Amino acid sequence: MKLLVTGGAGFIGSNFVHYILRERPDWHVTVFDLLTYAGNQKNLEGLDTRRFTFIKGDVCDEAAIDSAVANCDAAVHFAAETHVDNSVHNPRPFIDANILGTYQVLEAVRKYNKRLHHISTDEVYGDLEPQDPKFTEDSSYNPSSPYSATKAGSDHLVSAWSRSFGVQATVSNCSNNYGPYQHVEKFVPRNITNVLSGIKPKLYGEGQNIRDWIHAEDHSSGVLAILEKGKIGDTYLIGANGEKTNKDVIELILELMGKPKDSYEYVNDRPGHDLRYAIDSSKLRSELGWQPRFTGFREGLAATIDWYKQNEAWWTPQKEATEAKYKELGR
Ligand code: NAD
Ligand code: DAU
Repeated sequence: MKLLVTGGAGFIGSNFVHYILRERPDWHVTVFDLLTYAGNQKNLEGLDTRRFTFIKGDVCDEAAIDSAVANCDAAVHFAAETHVDNSVHNPRPFIDANILGTYQVLEAVRKYNKRLHHISTDEVYGDLEPQDPKFTEDSSYNPSSPYSATKAGSDHLVSAWSRSFGVQATVSNCSNNYGPYQHVEKFVPRNITNVLSGIKPKLYGEGQNIRDWIHAEDHSSGVLAILEKGKIGDTYLIGANGEKTNKDVIELILELMGKPKDSYEYVNDRPGHDLRYAIDSSKLRSELGWQPRFTGFREGLAATIDWYKQNEAWWTPQKEATEAKYKELGR
């Protein structure tokens, strides 16, 4: 198997590449990544170069993605602009990477008749009230932010290319990931590295928003199951029953880092802030036999905190600029 992984230098993409090279010893992986502010080749250091190739390129570049797809057997498309706050501040890069980029990937897999797995998010379904049932594959699309609207658009492109042109595609919509290699702009690493930098952790609004946490390695195992056993044309939701309020998560980070549980501060809320996400992953579990390995959030978070403690050289170059950007937003 020659697998192409777009966005493989980012958080989940790089976790996926490490996972695949470990779990499938006879596969070759090519990462195709633009190395935006969110991509980092250090995430891929130490991989066996006989089984791993890196191409720096833009998924919006027709010729570049065409030739990368021509040389693979299957592609997993992670590449995207991913941070909701950035999308509210400046939506344009999201239109380009997420919509135009997915279009170019689809045109290339259509041309060469290659298998595609498209990575998407639970945010395409909008948000839930606390008592609502969880999202399923039948939930209606109702995105709230420029980020989720562009991801919704990309999902619709995949289903249209599948139906109109017979592209061999599957889609997965996953909930909030945590784990190593996540950029310090995101909630969990931002606040772990705030504590490590002597900055007070920041909680948006009243901290009552709920996210459904899954370890990035469990996301990877879900994607592999779909790639190998998923039904072409189908969508699968990936989630690990990890619902928590943001307040609970920030208090747990502080507790695990030996700080008083209330030593954080409330900051301005995100405009249009989604209240709750929750995934029903029964289809993936019953049809493909998938189950998550990291079921203890406390243990998974403690290991993630350790990773950030041991990898200061990885995150410090990004920290100052990220906090300066947040300061401009009042968050
Ligand atoms: P990330 O921001 O950490 O990484 C994105 C990667 O894509 C980076 O390496 C970046 O350089 C690359 N990239 C961006 N634009 C590109 C372009 N035009 N051409 C080529 N490469 C480009 O993102 P992530 O959190 O790892 O998310 C990866 C995928 O998973 C995204 O599609 C995202 O929507 C989806 N997802 C993320 C989460 C989450 O919790 N982070 C949950 C569900 C789904
Ligand atoms: O649900 C999947 C999505 O999860 C992915 O599709 C996105 O790419 C990913 O970024 C993530 O989106 P969120 O907006 O949920 O993640 P974020 O880490 O930005 O924020 C998580 C929650 O924490 C959200 O309710 C906002 C809040 N927050 C965030 C930051 C950065 C805070 O309270 N304080 C913070 O400092």
